[in-house]
Amino acid sequence: MVSTEIIRQRESLPVFPYRQEIIDAIKSEPLLVVIGETGSGKTTQIPQYILESFPEFRLIGVTQPRRIAAITVANRVSEEHGSRLGDDIGYCIRFDDCTSARTHLKYMTDGVLLREATIDPRLSHYDVIIVDEAHERTLETDVLFGLLKETHRLRPELKILVMSATLNVEKFSDFFNSCPIFIIPGRTYDVAINHHRDAKISSLKSTYVQRSVETALYIHTQEPPGDILVFLTGQNEIEKACRDLEGLDRDLNYKTDVKHFEDVRGLVIYPIYATLETMEQKAIFDDPPRYTRKIVFATNIAQTSVTIPGIKYVIDSGFVKQKTYDPATGMDALLVVPISRAAATQRAGRAGRTASGQAFRLYSRESYEQMEGDTVPEIQRSSLLGTVLSLKKMGINDIINFEFIDPPDPAMVKNALKQLFLLEAIDDTGKLTTLGNEMSIFPLSPFLSRVLIASSRKYECSREVVIIVAMLSVDEIFVSPRSAEKQMDADEKRREFYHPSGDHMMLLNIFEKYRDSGYSRDWCRDKYFNYRALSMAKSVRDQLRELMVKHDLPLISCRLKNYQVKDDGDRHRKKRRNSYQDIKYNAEKILESFSTSYYINLAKRHPHRPVFYHYASATGPGSEGIDSNSSLLALHISPTSALHPDNKIVRVDDLDWVTYLSVLYTNKALMKVVSKVKLEWVQERLNLFKKLATANLDGSYGSDKSESNTLEGSDKVNSAVTDAQKVKDKDDEKKRKRLEAIEAARQRALARKSITNQE
Ligand SMILES: Nc1ncnc2c1ncn2[C@@H]1O[C@H](COP(=O)(O)OP(=O)(O)O)[C@@H](O)[C@H]1O
Ligand SMILES: [Mg+2]
Repeated sequence: MVSTEIIRQRESLPVFPYRQEIIDAIKSEPLLVVIGETGSGKTTQIPQYILESFPEFRLIGVTQPRRIAAITVANRVSEEHGSRLGDDIGYCIRFDDCTSARTHLKYMTDGVLLREATIDPRLSHYDVIIVDEAHERTLETDVLFGLLKETHRLRPELKILVMSATLNVEKFSDFFNSCPIFIIPGRTYDVAINHHRDAKISSLKSTYVQRSVETALYIHTQEPPGDILVFLTGQNEIEKACRDLEGLDRDLNYKTDVKHFEDVRGLVIYPIYATLETMEQKAIFDDPPRYTRKIVFATNIAQTSVTIPGIKYVIDSGFVKQKTYDPATGMDALLVVPISRAAATQRAGRAGRTASGQAFRLYSRESYEQMEGDTVPEIQRSSLLGTVLSLKKMGINDIINFEFIDPPDPAMVKNALKQLFLLEAIDDTGKLTTLGNEMSIFPLSPFLSRVLIASSRKYECSREVVIIVAMLSVDEIFVSPRSAEKQMDADEKRREFYHPSGDHMMLLNIFEKYRDSGYSRDWCRDKYFNYRALSMAKSVRDQLRELMVKHDLPLISCRLKNYQVKDDGDRHRKKRRNSYQDIKYNAEKILESFSTSYYINLAKRHPHRPVFYHYASATGPGSEGIDSNSSLLALHISPTSALHPDNKIVRVDDLDWVTYLSVLYTNKALMKVVSKVKLEWVQERLNLFKKLATANLDGSYGSDKSESNTLEGSDKVNSAVTDAQKVKDKDDEKKRKRLEAIEAARQRALARKSITNQE
């Protein structure tokens, strides 16, 4: 039974009066853009209206940019609908499918639909596709747009809806054949905007958490009742802010310190960031007790994806954590960067949902005016690796000319093509290889897919590698305790998992001990591991194994048969055994498997100092297009790595060559997940860097060539001339590119300097 409370709530939403009009529009239009303020009911209501009004539709698919949103929205909607989650209404995210044959409304991540479209470009299971939160412009959404346009050509009867908050919508309509735009009039109230008098955004980087807390306290003690929403950037600082404000609240004497004491007599504080624990706290969405003010510290998730009712005050730190591609390492890194003006407007708007409100920006008006107008779409700031592989798999060879709503930077597409070539997923003409085809089976980064296949087909250690790959695919497994004492305890306990070869084997050790504990939650707590992450790793491992079995990739263990055999007297071996604790597996095979991909992230130690340098960019012709500065970039071993010098597991002089998973920028460039490798494992593969110079990875070259082949003889001379011209143009182009790359590197170096250590 659905409660009357829920029915009333549904009918009070701004979208409700437009129910019939929306249904009519969907009936008559195959393509439709719907816009409305955040909280107007787009995500939860419109799919339900369709479900209720079109019983003939088999399946309605709704995409969400965030996994967490797909889950919570499906939960909420099945509750509103009065059915069990997974029946009529379900969700599907990577590694977690909660739908059934009875499901008619499916919430999913845009990544899931993208993969489905790869397999079936007609999306024949669906009658309606809704791309929701389109304004977020995630990479997957952007690629989906291109694919859906093709699906629309193949199946004009398929209904396609694009739903967005009020940002940049003409663009969506223009892209989808100038389709109509349905506007849901919002109920928005005035929001008074208070800028800080003179704080520059650049100077706030190290202080915005503290200032947010101070501002929250100021509002709490000086302003009339109303809840507060504070925008910060990440979990750690949100937790710190909650603690700090709790401390300040304890010291308050409400009678003397709080101006509106008659109505404001207490405080409840909540964190919200993209993990289930915080999203499941229903209390965040409820009214606080009487005379109590609610303060929510949130990541960007509260900007458009999640609506928290009752907010009257917004505090905007001016920052967001954003995935940003770094050509210096060829990887994506999460960086804290200033928001755009559009984001600032969205954030402020959260204060005017139920009555007029106020926004407090921690930065000056001048800083606001200097912000970028719009948030740069993810596709224009990420490595594109998986996307390019998916596009290749879909037979879209010429990616530079794919129909993107905002095409990615061709330099980044080229970089992705290079990496895919280095991974042998595409050949030197840019065509998908058998290996590349096999790699696209896995919902993993192409780097990890490559490793998995190598471990199965070549190095005979896939049983172990699949565990490590699963461990690398989940959130942070280590819990960082608050108190220094507990941190020491955690460090001490971590030692038992260390392996002298580094972090990959450590991850295997951790998983095995977790398994030996019977996948115990208590064991995780005692060892300071994140239980949710480890149980997710178990589930990922199981699913990857299933995929491997399904695709005839053998699961083979490299467990050493005689590892328990007593010492045979060989002193060397004895010594090794002591330091390796127990040599259970052939670690070399495992690390060789990883080297098939991560030779791209090979680093060599400085002869006299404990820092490393990225090898390929410092030497090979592969450095073209990769930042010329990167050979100068010193890489440090992350303090969380088993190989960090402080852990004294190995002497730094024993590490000549290492590979790493990724680089994290704090005040230094830190290599994460580091393992020791031998040059001989990768030597041959390094030749691929050389081959890059002559490869034609850009799919469009192929079609150019075939055109010139059809030229008549008399044009030959002409075309020779054009070829010469082309070569010259190419040289000029190269020169210009190099100058641009140098300038970009300089800009990045400057930007990096201003990034303080936020983590
Ligand atoms: N998990 C939830 N719990 C309680 N109320 C919710 C939940 N999710 C959504 N709502 C309510 O439904 C309203 C509409 O939300 P939603 O459909 O997500 O709007 P939109 O997609 O237009 O931003 C919200 O303002 C909120 O009041
Ligand atoms: Mg929504």
